[in-house]
Amino acid sequence: MPVSENDSALPAHVAFIMDGNGRWAKERGLPRTSGHQAGAETVRQVVTFARKRGIRYLTLYAFSTENWSRPAAEVAALMKLLSRFVKGEMPTMLKNDIRMRVIGDRAGLSKSLQHELASAEEKTAHCASLDVVIAINYGGRDEIARAASAAMRHILLEGKTPEALDANAIAAHLDSAGIPDPDLIIRTAGEKRLSNFLLWQGAYAELIFTDRRWPDFDDTDFEAALAEYAGRVRKFGTV
Ligand code: IPE
Ligand code: IPE
Ligand code: MG
Repeated sequence: MPVSENDSALPAHVAFIMDGNGRWAKERGLPRTSGHQAGAETVRQVVTFARKRGIRYLTLYAFSTENWSRPAAEVAALMKLLSRFVKGEMPTMLKNDIRMRVIGDRAGLSKSLQHELASAEEKTAHCASLDVVIAINYGGRDEIARAASAAMRHILLEGKTPEALDANAIAAHLDSAGIPDPDLIIRTAGEKRLSNFLLWQGAYAELIFTDRRWPDFDDTDFEAALAEYAGRVRKFGTV
C-alpha cells in the first residue's frame, strides 16, 4: 500500500548496512564473491522497492575504509562489481528518475572508478524521485575528520578563529551535506554494530537488526522493517 511522502510513519531516509554476503555464500558452499554477486541483485530489488514505496533517500554501505584489509582478490572483485553496477544500472536509474550520489573518500579509489562514479552522478543529477547514496571507501570517522579539516580551512580563510568550528560547520562539510540524516538504519546478517557507518548522521536514527543475510533480504523483510519503524516513538531528547 503506497504511503504519501509526508506520512511521518514512513522514513524519508533509509540506510542499509548490507552485511552477510560472505556467510550466505559459505552456507551454500560457494566462494565469498558469489555472495557479493547475489548481494548486487538485492541492491536492485531494494532500490525498486524504495522507489515504489515513496522513500526519498536510500543509503547503501558498499565498502568500508576497513574493508581494504580483506584478501586482495575479494577487494578486486568488490571494486569490479561496484563499477559494473554503477555503469549497468544507469539506464534504469535515468528511466526511473533516480539520482545516484556517492559518499566516502573517492581519492582512495582507482582513477577509472572515480571517473565512473562522477559520470553517474552527473548524468543523474537532475533526477528527483529517489536518491541512492552509495557509501564507498566510507568510514564515519574518516568522513568526520575530513569534514572537520575542510571546515577549519574555510574558517581560517574567512579570517575567523578556531572557536568558530561548530557542529553546523562540520555538518556542512560532510560528504552527505545536503542529504537529510537517516531516519532508519537497517543492518542485515545479525551483527549488532555500526561498523563505522554514518556515525554523525545516525545520531538519532532508529536501528533495526535482522538475521537475514543481505542476498536473502526481500520486499517482505523491507516491509516488516518499515512496520517496525512506524511503531517506534522518536523523541530526539525531548519529553
Ligand atoms: C557485506 O558482506 C559486504 C561487504 C562488507 C562488502 P560480508 O562480506 O561482510 O559478509 P560476511 O559478514 O562475511 O558474511
Ligand atoms: C560493514 O560490514 C561494511 C559494509 C557492509 C560495507 P563488515 O562486514 O565489514 O563489518 P564487520 O567487520 O562485521 O564489523
Ligand atoms: Mg560482514
